[in-house]
Amino acid sequence: MWGGRFAGGPSAIMREINASIPFDKALWRQDIAASKAHVDMLGAQGIVSAEDAALIADGLDKVAAEYEANGVPENWDLEDIHMTTESRLAELIGPAAGRLHTARSRNDQVATDFRLWVRDAMDQAELGLKQLQVALVSRAGEHAASIMPGFTHLQTAQPVTLGHHLMAYYEMIGRDRSRFADARVRMNRSPLGAAALAGTGFPIDRFRTAEALGFDGPTDNSLDSVSDRDFALDYLMAAAQCSLHLSRLAEEFIIWASQPFGFVTLPDSLSTGSSIMPQKKNPDAAELVRGHSGRIAGCLTALMITMKGLPLAYSKDMQDDKPPVFEAASLLALSIAAMTGMVAEAKFRTDRMRAAAELGYATATDLADWLVRQANIPFREAHHITGSAVKLAESRGIALDQLSIDDLKAIDQRIDDRVYAALSVEASVAARCSHGGTAPDEVRKRVAQARVALGLE
Ligand code: ARG
Repeated sequence: MWGGRFAGGPSAIMREINASIPFDKALWRQDIAASKAHVDMLGAQGIVSAEDAALIADGLDKVAAEYEANGVPENWDLEDIHMTTESRLAELIGPAAGRLHTARSRNDQVATDFRLWVRDAMDQAELGLKQLQVALVSRAGEHAASIMPGFTHLQTAQPVTLGHHLMAYYEMIGRDRSRFADARVRMNRSPLGAAALAGTGFPIDRFRTAEALGFDGPTDNSLDSVSDRDFALDYLMAAAQCSLHLSRLAEEFIIWASQPFGFVTLPDSLSTGSSIMPQKKNPDAAELVRGHSGRIAGCLTALMITMKGLPLAYSKDMQDDKPPVFEAASLLALSIAAMTGMVAEAKFRTDRMRAAAELGYATATDLADWLVRQANIPFREAHHITGSAVKLAESRGIALDQLSIDDLKAIDQRIDDRVYAALSVEASVAARCSHGGTAPDEVRKRVAQARVALGLE
């Protein structure tokens, strides 16, 4: 394709280090679509004849059909998907194929193909995350009033509801969806027609090709068009942040499924056994989601460092943009699917959760709040009085509401037996009715809004 000025061919090492076809063959659909948009425009503008344009378009369809049926052949001499397709086109239709690359460079071609691919990946991530939200909301609705311990420092803090806990992930995943959606809006401009770096003297119509490929319009600077990989970095950033959320959710399932917790029974379909310990059921899928988040963050780091310090415009370093994006996309899709299945099918052991919420003095704050409200004691003092009650109960190995009224009065005279009503875990969650709080009615309200937002109502 470019041998005219060379006396010798590339060495074996050159061929191998140069070849991107082993991975960029994944772009074949985008490459065909972009070439068809380009040649249609060349024909419409009279840059190539209508006959040649039709011949090329038809030939591209034939190449696509071959790829579909047999896969993309990997010939390192042809370097990448762009040259592989053009070379096969030439075999099929003859010299007219040579007119396809008029007013185009592989630099704008690869930027266009890759954008189209990343745009699809953003859409797929968004769709997958929406399904995860559907699963979260449906389980949260079931468990709007199921009580579990809430933790800080992984120490029992205050009772919350399982529905509230699951809806926290609904919020996180919502932000992830919006990150993909924002990135999509920002990236949806067509670099096609920027040519190698400076634009072209041919009377091309960049608006036409942009529209044909579903872009909102062409990019506005040819140098930026061929050297910009922000869209890939935006995708990886959104993917990395999303995978952090998925790994936190995965971690919760891992902890909850452990025997001392016993809050959840994981679906058999997303667990594995042990080859030596017959009793084992391991949360491997969740652990791999937790692990994959590290790899996805690595993909983001890899591309950031590839792009750092590159002068304008295209440099071959940028060929290395694709493997991290492809890797992150497949890891993310698997992670989303695994967590969606886990949320949808997990058996929550609400009896164990409720029993755990009774332990660890989770309603101590409720006692302090009661002292503030009923006895008009400043919160700091109420905190101290409650601490003494916890200390006494702990020394006897009993719960707060198992202390007798005489014991409580011995700690502070102002306590009376109305306090017991405030010390149950039900009273505790019901009391937390501030906007966004864990009270079952608040959770139901948020679940209802979410169901509308997801189009379930
Ligand atoms: N295989 C290349 C890539 O993926 C295509 C662009 C080549 N451009 C060039 N000037 N060598 O980045």
